[in-house]
Amino acid sequence: MSKFTPDTIDRVRAAADMVEIVSAHTELRRQGGRWTGLCPFHDERSPSFGIHAEDKLYHCFGCQVGGDLFDFVIATENIDFPDAVELLADRYGVEITREKEDPQAEQRRQARTRLTELLERAAVYYSAYFHDSPEAGKAREYLAGRGLGEEILRDFGVGYSPSAWDALIMRGQQAGFSVAELAKTGLAQKGRNGGMYDRFRERITFPIRDPRGRAVGFGARAMRAEQKPKYLNSAENEVFHKSEILYGIDRARGPMAKAGRAIVVEGYTDVIALHQAGMTEAVGVMGTAITEQQLALLSGTIENIVLALDADAAGRKAMLRAQQVAAGRKLTIKVVAMPSGEDPAELVVAEGGAERFRDLVEGAVDLPEFHLDLIMATVDPASPQDRDRGLAEAAPVLAEVPAGATRDELVRRAAERLGIDPTVVVARVTSAPKPQPETTRTGSASPRSNSEEAPPAQAASLLSQRERQERHLLAMCVAKPDEGRPYIEKLEAKHMTSPLMMRTVEWLKLHLDDPAEGLDPEDRDLHRLVAALVLRASPEQVGTGSIRRNFMELELAALEDEIAAASAGEDARLRASLNRQRAELVEKVNRAEAEV
Ligand code: UTP
Ligand code: MN
Repeated sequence: MSKFTPDTIDRVRAAADMVEIVSAHTELRRQGGRWTGLCPFHDERSPSFGIHAEDKLYHCFGCQVGGDLFDFVIATENIDFPDAVELLADRYGVEITREKEDPQAEQRRQARTRLTELLERAAVYYSAYFHDSPEAGKAREYLAGRGLGEEILRDFGVGYSPSAWDALIMRGQQAGFSVAELAKTGLAQKGRNGGMYDRFRERITFPIRDPRGRAVGFGARAMRAEQKPKYLNSAENEVFHKSEILYGIDRARGPMAKAGRAIVVEGYTDVIALHQAGMTEAVGVMGTAITEQQLALLSGTIENIVLALDADAAGRKAMLRAQQVAAGRKLTIKVVAMPSGEDPAELVVAEGGAERFRDLVEGAVDLPEFHLDLIMATVDPASPQDRDRGLAEAAPVLAEVPAGATRDELVRRAAERLGIDPTVVVARVTSAPKPQPETTRTGSASPRSNSEEAPPAQAASLLSQRERQERHLLAMCVAKPDEGRPYIEKLEAKHMTSPLMMRTVEWLKLHLDDPAEGLDPEDRDLHRLVAALVLRASPEQVGTGSIRRNFMELELAALEDEIAAASAGEDARLRASLNRQRAELVEKVNRAEAEV
């Protein structure tokens, strides 16, 4: 889809009411141009969250989230930037204009819109048929028997496809859609004799929606044992790519952002049953394998994933594989140890099941622990060969866990089960082949030297001392532009730890008086950082000389970098000169500190 015109974004920004938007998530109190309240992004007792109503920025000093109004909507609704613009435009009655599209792209977009509309109508038709037709009576009974109430089934648009071979084709054509369009959505397909017939017949239908809630396809469950396959899904087509979506994400988006985690399950009924039980942050992978794209859908806003796949061999394998798929992403994956032979849908609808499932989720374990327990469960302690095999399999798993209390605990557990001394296990672990760091680490971000830009919205504790210092200096310069300007001018790439920080500096060099004004709305990273600086900036808190002192500390840090680099090289004269500079600078910093 073509880009919004810049004035569209400006008009949306101008029309939107930041206080109103944020007030839906936390109670705000006015303090001059700013409003403060409890942070909607983390748990706290006293407010460290604030917004600037006119600039439409927010920031939390506690967890360091921040950005402009679009970021706020992106984070709380868990949608992407274009969707946030559309949502706000809709809400505040702003007309959206787009950059000129080439006619072909325009045509494609319109064609796609028609397919989405057709799928939506099909969903409505199936749903009405499910609730009202005598033919669907057995399906209604079946789902009721599985503990799913009528209301949740309506919410999810669960439906029933008639047994007639062309019920949907007829309906679709009556509504003005061509057979070709019906075929493109996968709702109709060609039979052996060349005629077209409905793909879904005599099945319970589950509309699958994209994050914006648009129907893109269906999963459809057989009603009779001899109907194969058990679940028939839409075939891959222009609008339906099963591996790229998560079932229920349209409804789970907001709750996921709020809970800070996603519960990932296998099936359609698992998702619906969990939502019914109040665990609305549940989404389904529609099968066992978790794909890259599905994780990408989650990793934008969520850092914690709890996998609750079926407790069968396929589910277990998928949980272990998830670790590899997640490699390099900033995700923490935990695994629910599901009782053998049960899936979340069965568990959660049973008497007291919701509580039990919640406990299981809270007790979810890290993947290595889960993996170790799986291995140990296969070991027969009475068989020496089995114990040897257990040790051989456990060693590389334990080697992935960084040395520390957790690893010690796991080692103890393995040793006990294997009936050997922990030191034997430790010896095997330390000699086990080191796993490739980028494919085996769970949930760790890529090392900083590899990351192009520092993640802007990371928690305070994740910012290095030096990054905090950089931000602090910039915030002071924003607070007192006249005093800060000469120092901003002097800042170079060597002072800053990330390209993003340096881009921010370049921006401030030109816009120190009003940093929030005129930012490229699509440059989200810069937006967030500038928002954090503007909200943090308060002139009263900038003491005499503190800008200068802070600048010198960054100079010193840059010099330390140079010294470190030089000490790896041969040039002794350079090293000596740098050390001398360093000594002088340290002296200056000390003097400046003594002046306060
Ligand atoms: P399951 O076989 O575990 O089904 O497949 P389920 O969700 O527990 O089914 P119910 O509760 O008996 O109705 C889990 C998921 O794998 C996908 C579906 O998305 C299903 O929900 N699947 C399964 C298919 O796509 N095709 C199949 O033939 C089977
Ligand atoms: Mn299942």
